[in-house]
Amino acid sequence: MGPIAVTQLLALISLTVALDNGLLKTPPMGWMAWERFRCDIDCSDDPENCISETLFRDMADRLAEDGWKELGYEYVIIDDCWMSRLRDEQGKLQPEPSRFPGGIGKLARYIHDRGLKLGIYADMGTHTCMGFPGTTLDKIELDAQTFASWGVDYLKFDSCYSNPLEQMLGYPLMSKALNATGRPIAYSCSWPVYVGGLPPAVNYSLLGEICHLWRNYYDIQDSWDSLQGIVEWFSNNQDDLQPASGPGRWNDPDMLIIGNFGLSVDQARSQMALWAIMAAPLIMSNDLRNLGNIERAILQNKVAIAINQDPLGIQGRRLLQEKSRIEVYWRPLSHSASALVFLSRRTDMPYLYHTSLAKLNYDAGNYEAYDVFTGSTVRGLNATSEFTLSINPSGVVMWYVYPEKESKQADLPHYRHNKGSQFTFHKANARHHTVL
Ligand SMILES: *[C@@H]1O[C@H](CO)[C@@H](O)[C@H](O)[C@H]1NC(C)=O
Ligand SMILES: *[C@@H]1O[C@H](CO)[C@@H](O)[C@H](O)[C@H]1NC(C)=O
Ligand SMILES: *[C@@H]1O[C@H](CO)[C@@H](O)[C@H](O)[C@H]1NC(C)=O
Repeated sequence: MGPIAVTQLLALISLTVALDNGLLKTPPMGWMAWERFRCDIDCSDDPENCISETLFRDMADRLAEDGWKELGYEYVIIDDCWMSRLRDEQGKLQPEPSRFPGGIGKLARYIHDRGLKLGIYADMGTHTCMGFPGTTLDKIELDAQTFASWGVDYLKFDSCYSNPLEQMLGYPLMSKALNATGRPIAYSCSWPVYVGGLPPAVNYSLLGEICHLWRNYYDIQDSWDSLQGIVEWFSNNQDDLQPASGPGRWNDPDMLIIGNFGLSVDQARSQMALWAIMAAPLIMSNDLRNLGNIERAILQNKVAIAINQDPLGIQGRRLLQEKSRIEVYWRPLSHSASALVFLSRRTDMPYLYHTSLAKLNYDAGNYEAYDVFTGSTVRGLNATSEFTLSINPSGVVMWYVYPEKESKQADLPHYRHNKGSQFTFHKANARHHTVL
């Protein structure tokens, strides 16, 4: 691209308006192919698991039939490796015909017919990370129009094989191009990862204006080490990252790997709890056709989901790192409630942690706490009352904390997906539980 084109593009950027189309007032929820299925394109030897329309139809069926959709898990997102190696005669991206014989438009209809939404992947650069056709600056409008014409609802825009100048031009241009299609399309930007994830290289105000969510840090892998590294990076940099987040603009620590091979049950609860506290997208990458009951229950935990989807949309923070390697995370929620996660980074045995709400900056008063993963309720919690929790190694205790109620029943949040992003309070039959 010559210098004149760059000048013209820079002029366009200054006119960029917010992609404020009302989408993703709460973090997106759904399923994405990458972490679990990668770039498996071997449909002859691995027909069930290769990147093909069969895989996405299977996952749409599971989301629609196994209770996921009602909980808010609605996006089915294609990642890299869906494309043909060549654009078509008009220069448009096209799916690999042997693996997507019906085309993306037909797949979108299948997904929409089940009350779900379709996401797709493209790459700002000469090639996608796996070497398929990229979206160079001159192709941005065409590709946005192609996606809209297929009925795509979400775009993950990666950034392999481009330089920082092209990224600076391309991400706002794609935002504008998606807006110009007239179709509301959620826009996930991988841009920050490619420039280190932090200011001043990353302008989070700008990202908040042009993208609905963004990947700040490296890809998650199927291991507790990878997950811990991500949580640590986000927490160490929370002063920069936490204020960037809010309704319609989310930090994305990457996919939920619960149900795969790398996490114990305690570690799976830890991911669910920490992603809820961080107001992170709840986008699973697992095999919904083969999911253990315990992992399913963790991913379908209604209170954890309601905390994640809280309408205030305030990302939580790490409050404390104890010498004992217990960490405390906190997130303010609507209706004067809050969530606490007590994470053990120990590797020995369940640890007895002594604290009080006052030590965690709570105002004087009386509280109750609902234990998100055991379903028990802790009553009569004066801010100054000391309590003791038993936290498993690499596990969590997660509390939903709210001001004491007159009634004997817990006031639990309930995220009602079909009514939009709103909470209703319903009475649950919480059992009485004595504070340890
Ligand atoms: C396009 O942007 C305008 C201004 O932010 C917004 O009102 C409109 O809803 C957007 N439309 C789409 C389809 O994104
Ligand atoms: C960051 O982006 C915002 C919004 O577009 C802009 O007003 C601001 O000047 C930018 N900051 C820097 C340091 O470039
Ligand atoms: C809570 O603790 C404070 C300070 O110890 C005390 O003044 C207050 O009466 C307590 N409230 C209840 C309801 O126990």
